[in-house]
Order: sequence, then structure tokens, then C-alpha cells
Amino acid sequence: MTCRGPADPPLCTGCLSKDTRRRCTYCSLYGPIWRSKFGLFDIVNVATPDLIAQVIQQEGRYPVRAELPHWKEYRDLRGQAYGLHVETGLDWYRLRSALNPKMLKLQEVSAYASVIHQVVGDLLQRIELLRTCSQDQATVSDLAAELYKFGFEGVSSILFETRLGCLQEEIPHDTLRFIAAVNDMLTFSDPVLLFPRWSRDILPFWKRFIQAWDDLSDIAQMLIDRRMAEIEAQVSRGEPAEGMYLTYLLSSDKLSKADVYTSVTELMLGGVDTVRKKNDTVVWFFTSVELDLFAFSSTSLYPVVPGNGRYISENEVILDNYWFPKKTQFHLCHYAACHDESEFVDAERFLPERWFYSEAPSSRSNRAMPGFYQHHPYSFIPFGVGVRACVGKRVAEMEMHFALSRLMQHYEIQPEDGAPTVEAKTRTLLIPSKPINLRFMPRA
Ligand code: HEM
Repeated sequence: MTCRGPADPPLCTGCLSKDTRRRCTYCSLYGPIWRSKFGLFDIVNVATPDLIAQVIQQEGRYPVRAELPHWKEYRDLRGQAYGLHVETGLDWYRLRSALNPKMLKLQEVSAYASVIHQVVGDLLQRIELLRTCSQDQATVSDLAAELYKFGFEGVSSILFETRLGCLQEEIPHDTLRFIAAVNDMLTFSDPVLLFPRWSRDILPFWKRFIQAWDDLSDIAQMLIDRRMAEIEAQVSRGEPAEGMYLTYLLSSDKLSKADVYTSVTELMLGGVDTVRKKNDTVVWFFTSVELDLFAFSSTSLYPVVPGNGRYISENEVILDNYWFPKKTQFHLCHYAACHDESEFVDAERFLPERWFYSEAPSSRSNRAMPGFYQHHPYSFIPFGVGVRACVGKRVAEMEMHFALSRLMQHYEIQPEDGAPTVEAKTRTLLIPSKPINLRFMPRA
């Protein structure tokens, strides 16, 4: 392999805000394939839609994003089932096959509509309260924080079949502990991976990481056990076990109880921050045009997941004229692909009309003109593609559509007066660098 690239780019958590842009810069310096180091990881970066497609087409039957040795170590330490992120090969596939049907089939997901509408109702009440209590009776400060709670409440109402009260004025103690644990686990996961093992006794990261996982597992298990007891009581009274996702998993016999504990916790982790992030990007851009166009346009400018990985261990990979041995870790630079001028004219501009299907997507003519959906199908893949793609895609889309359409029905949304320019920064996901404060003006 002869890819050029920086020997050791200065990447570290906390200063990741520039990482995504840096990758775009590397792309213009070294071309669309380059090699870099991240801690102990040797990474091949690919930054065009065509190269991303080539990697995914060679990912094999049971794709892996990246090895997570520290998650695996925690699971071994506590004797837990490995779950979706750690399990590999056929065992991962068995888990996904059990989790997919009630998450990815449109018809099945519509069963969650009424509970999501209730959660959206709570979000509207919360926005109304915050708005009316503000100085100008219009501004909601740090909308992202509210949408984070919305994401948490929405996903857990489906997964645990329990309302956690995230959008209440007084958030219950266990719910606060749950939210803090998710945040800590995600925050400490990167430093644990990057710092050498000997530093674990000196630096706080490993202990905080373990503590966060312990809290997460504790509360998730308590919620699942409580729901299981309710189901058993229903069944013993001769009533049908009616419920949603958890009831289905517990009664399907496809997963052991240990698998259910880990999988449901991981599903929740996948759903919490991403949903919040996607919603706040779209709300930020929203005025009055069709929702889908706005969602596409705003999130392709600021993709929630700016980069993804594929660790291809079983096959050699060929990309254009380069050959890569087995066990190569690829980084798919989605942010760079979404900002590629040869795919999107005026890539930095918010142009919802570029998502109109005015010609067949396969046609390559006029692809450089705004107003035409002509870009490469892999230039914007917010949920990934293939068997390893996001399992919560349908739920996320439903939550986003319900929340945004009802917010727009009730309010005209404007930036607060003198609002600063908000840049994006990376915390694994792309997030706003400053709180976003918006004015919610009731529609007549
Ligand atoms: C706007 C919201 C969301 C976005 C943009 C998003 C995006 C993604 C992406 C890009 C991946 C990696 C796919 C790949 O490697 O090819 C992923 C994986 C995953 N997502 Fe989401 N996601 C969202 C919401 C959700 C929700 C609501 C859930 C749970 C209900 C969820 C659960 C997961 C899980 C468990 C995985 C790992 C799947 C596996 O490894 O087999 N996500 N998501």
C-alpha cells in the first residue's frame, strides 16, 4: 500500500472539533485516499462517494465498524452478553436478525406512532413552558438540551415500554442517573481507548467508564425486569401480553435474557444523541418548505454521523488501483463526501431544491446543476447502507417527522435577535459548537 498521508495527525478527543474539517483538508492535500494514525489505530481514510461505495461493497457478509476492545473488556468483567457492537460474525447476525423486524419494517414501526405522539405532546408543553417563562416570552435557550431529553424519552418509551419523565419539570432521580450514565459512558469511551493500559491507575477515565456502564446496566436491567414482571402478571391473569418492542423481544424466544439486557441498552445508546442532533440541525434550518427536503438539505450540510468505519478482517480490499491487506481499518469520510463540489454545486450552501427528483437518480446528465438530484447514491448515507446500517432508522425518522411537523404547526421559529454564527463541532457525532437559542412565535 502506498497511500500518502500524515504520519501522526494530531487527533484527540476534546479537540475533535476540527477533525472533520481537517479530514477535508487532508483530502485536498493527499487525494481521496490517505493513511493516518489515531492512537494505536492505523487508518485508511476514503473521502469520495465512489470509494465509500467500493469499501462497502467489499465489507463481507458480517461487516464490522471498528473493534471495541474496551467495551468487550467491560462485558467480560461483568459477565454480560456482548451485544450488537462487540459481537461479530454469525453471532452478531443472529442478534440483528432478532432485532430488525420490529424496528425496520415500516408497518411494524407504525405501532409506535401513538406513544411517540404522546412524547411529542410533552415536548410541545415543555417548549411552551420555557418560552412563556423566558424574558421576551418567546425564546427557548439551548434547544439541543430539550431535544436530547426528547430523544431519550422517545426511544426509551418504545424500548423499555416505560415513560421516564425526561420532559417533566422535576426529572425523576433514576432518570437523571440514566442520562448522566449515557453521557459519561460516551465521553469516557474515547480516552479509555486512546490512553495506554498502565495509565488506568493514574487517570480517572477507566474508573469513570466502568462506573458509567455499571449505572447504565443497572437501570436498564431494572426497567426490563419491572416490565417483565408486569407481562408475567398479565399472562397469569389470562390476558394477552400486549406491548411494544420489549414485549416482542422477551416473548419471541430468539434472544436470551442476557442478550435482551445488552441489546436494548445498546439500542438506546444508538438512539439518544443521534435523534437529538438530527432534530436540532433541522429545526435550525427550518422555515416553511417541505419537511423532507429540509431534513435532507440540513443534515447533508451537517451530517449527524460525519464519519463511519469498516474494519475488514477477512478479505483483502481493492480500491481503484490500491490493494489493502486483510485487517485494514477504513474510515469513511461522509462529511467530506457531502461537501464534495463535484457532487453538490455550492456544497456549503443550504439549497433544499437540490433534493428534488426532477430526473431519474441514475441519470448522470446535469448532475452539477443545483435543483437536480444527480449526486452519487453514496454521497449522503446518513443511516449507512447494507446489513450493518442503522437499526433505528425508521424510529428516528418517525420521531423527527412527528416532532418537527407539530412544532411547525404551532410555531413560527426564528433565531434570537443577534444570534451568533453557530459552527459545527465533532463529539464522535457532529454537534453545534454553541447552544442554539430560538424564538418560538405562536402561529395565529
Ligand atoms: C437521526 C438519528 C440516527 C442517525 C443519523 C443514525 C445513524 C446511524 C449510523 C450511521 C449507524 C452506522 C451504520 C453503519 O455502520 O453502516 C448507526 C448504527 C446504529 N444505530 Fe443509528 N442512527 C439514528 C438513530 C437511531 C435510533 C433511534 C436507534 C435505536 C432505536 C439507533 C440504533 C442504532 C444501532 C443499535 C446501531 C448499530 C447497529 C449494528 O451495529 O448492527 N439509531 N446509526
